[in-house]
Amino acid sequence: MSEAPHSADYIHDERFDWWSRDFLRLLKSRAIGDAIATSLADFGVGEGHWSLGLLDAFVDLREVTGVDREREWCARSAKKYAERAPHIAYRAVEADASDTGLPGASFDIVTAQTLLMHSLAPEKIVAEMRRVAKRGGTILCVEPVNHLNWAQTLELTHFLAPAERAAFYGVWVRFVDFVKSRRGDQDIGLRLPTLLARAGLENIRMWSNDRVRLDPIETYDIDFLEEEMGRDWVREALAGAAIGDAEIEFVKAIVARIRAEKPRELDFVPRASSSFICVATAP
Ligand SMILES: C[S@@+](CC[C@H](N)C(=O)[O-])C[C@H]1O[C@@H](n2cnc3c(N)ncnc32)[C@H](O)[C@@H]1O
Repeated sequence: MSEAPHSADYIHDERFDWWSRDFLRLLKSRAIGDAIATSLADFGVGEGHWSLGLLDAFVDLREVTGVDREREWCARSAKKYAERAPHIAYRAVEADASDTGLPGASFDIVTAQTLLMHSLAPEKIVAEMRRVAKRGGTILCVEPVNHLNWAQTLELTHFLAPAERAAFYGVWVRFVDFVKSRRGDQDIGLRLPTLLARAGLENIRMWSNDRVRLDPIETYDIDFLEEEMGRDWVREALAGAAIGDAEIEFVKAIVARIRAEKPRELDFVPRASSSFICVATAP
């Protein structure tokens, strides 16, 4: 049996809902104003959700090149583009994002969403993004700050004793630190301006996703916490970070208590989608 492609658990059509359409239009006007951008490269394209979403705002785009090291995402992004954006000349290139083989200085926009967080050498990918961008072209990187994403779950633990909360948070910190040393930085959104500036990019600007989901506390669902803990890569990382069975049981017990006791002072749980979007110009 062949292995599932990278990020298979995380690439679904709900990605189309990550961004508000009006926000993306505002982004376009802030990033490139009235300039005409006809070509775009989407590094780590997955199924194409990110750049397909951009088409509504970047209305002059005609050619999109998706880059992914997974053959399956190359095929699936091509299918998605054919279905949803037949007016776009789309091609998928199976390659590592740090060495794409694409011609230099050839795209008006070079973008990536939730790609750099999976790399131990994100600076190499950013250098490649710069290389393939036209002079004066735009680099547009979107990456999360998962500490902020988790803050809303941690906020649900106020009914616990401080020592329990600290232990709960401590497990997360050790897990994230281990992942950072082996797989990539879940908080890399914070490093985007530094990465782009060190690659020699100019005119660096940054915004954050404005979307906030509002769940009533009665229906707020924390199944994702348990689902995440059951995933193979998470189990491996927990073991690698020396988080043992007793601590995993402790976390599961807290998850069960959050589910059962739900903090009384909250009627809603606002859930931000904490990701930063960093825009720069290729010199
Ligand atoms: C979390 S998914 C994001 C997909 C897409 N950008 C989106 O936002 O919907 C990460 C994607 O990057 C690809 N990927 C990861 N590391 C890569 C690398 N070094 N070179 C090329 N593709 C890579 C994965 O195969 C996967 O499709």
